[in-house]
Amino acid sequence: MSDAKIKAPRGTYDVLGEQVAARLQLESRSRTILEGAGYERIETPTFEATELFARGVGASTDIVRKEMFTLEDGGGRSLTLRPEGTAPVCRAYVEHGMHKRRQPVKLWYLSSFFRHERAQAGRYRQFWQVGAEALGSEDPAVDAEAIVLLNTLMMEMGVRDATLRLSSLGSVESRAVYRERLQAHLHANEGDLAAEIVARIDLNPLRAFDSDHPGTRAVMETAPRLLDFLSAEDAEHFAQVRELLDVAGVPYVVDSTLVRGLDYYTRTVFEYTSTALGAQSGVGGGGRYDGLVQQFGGPSTPGMGWAAGIERILLSCDPHHTAPADLELFVAVEEHSATLRKTAFALASRARSAGLATQIELAGRSLRGELSHAGALGARYVAIVGEGHTVLKNMQSGGQETLATDTVIHAVLRAHSDL
Ligand code: HAM
Repeated sequence: MSDAKIKAPRGTYDVLGEQVAARLQLESRSRTILEGAGYERIETPTFEATELFARGVGASTDIVRKEMFTLEDGGGRSLTLRPEGTAPVCRAYVEHGMHKRRQPVKLWYLSSFFRHERAQAGRYRQFWQVGAEALGSEDPAVDAEAIVLLNTLMMEMGVRDATLRLSSLGSVESRAVYRERLQAHLHANEGDLAAEIVARIDLNPLRAFDSDHPGTRAVMETAPRLLDFLSAEDAEHFAQVRELLDVAGVPYVVDSTLVRGLDYYTRTVFEYTSTALGAQSGVGGGGRYDGLVQQFGGPSTPGMGWAAGIERILLSCDPHHTAPADLELFVAVEEHSATLRKTAFALASRARSAGLATQIELAGRSLRGELSHAGALGARYVAIVGEGHTVLKNMQSGGQETLATDTVIHAVLRAHSDL
């Protein structure tokens, strides 16, 4: 058998030490912000029927065309590791008859998602999102509230150089009219466009707005803009969303070239980008999806939500210097005899039961090695267990006293309460 090292798959990573603390902080802030606004936690399965995403996210999207991790179960059913959270939440809304609850139903999640993308900094094949979805109301206040909550999270996490881009896609009908006009514009200028854009004119013309190709960019400058094609009702909805963001003091730029990579959006769309991220500038985004629940066999139900990438939030904010947990007591042994090791082990167990953060020597170090290790861990006290007594050393003052071993915990606790 080969003994070559086995590495984590490309595009995945281990969460270690300090990163755990930063993630926990992000999770707890998300919970406080979202649950405070009436969002309830939901967790859906890691995999779903492939059809859920094919139908919901859209057959022409990159996600469905080439980024899904799809497998077959023993019975020949096609399953897919969830690439996003909105379609599963809508599926759950229908499956659990949530339209019978008070509307809107507000749900949030913090889960891992899977996309077979080209891995690079900030872009992973398994990544995490915090997301929020509000189903059952088309009130523009739902849109504005959701955006305000994401903005609060961004601010509280200290995301740097963030811009909120905002637009409206209008209804499916007005978008269809616009699409034709855009396609005509692209066909008329085919000679100046990148080949990949020409190849996608019929499939997904809006993606041309995302291109970095100079010729394509020039053509897009004069392209018709979707915002000019909105119906009066959709334009009014968008105006109200903007007004509410204004009164909430959330800055944004209206960007009619904003393209989202998922097909289900209607009306409001938005994205937070941060220049601190480099190429992968999207920190979070979302929008309204008024037809999605119905597509899954539910009653006609409007929806609105967003998701933000955990890795990208953490990459784009100043590193949080989370101090390692305080260590109150380190239990060492004068020498490594079986009896002393047992006494030390019992002392450490009792100290933990008494509520003291305690570590014990586990690597057979010499007494000097034990003290320097305890110092490196930042221990406040070191108990050096000897035959019939224990020396308790205060690592800050350097002072020490010799005690009966069973009084050590009491001495540390007393010193603790005097602090
Ligand atoms: P999305 O824009 O595809 O939207 O993803 C949301 C966020 O997830 C992105 O802004 C980014 O921070 C993060 N993200 C996406 N792909 C990756 C990746 N490969 N590696 C690291 N982070 C990534 C959605 O997923 C929609 N479900 C959002 C939504 C909710 N719309 C309405 N409700």
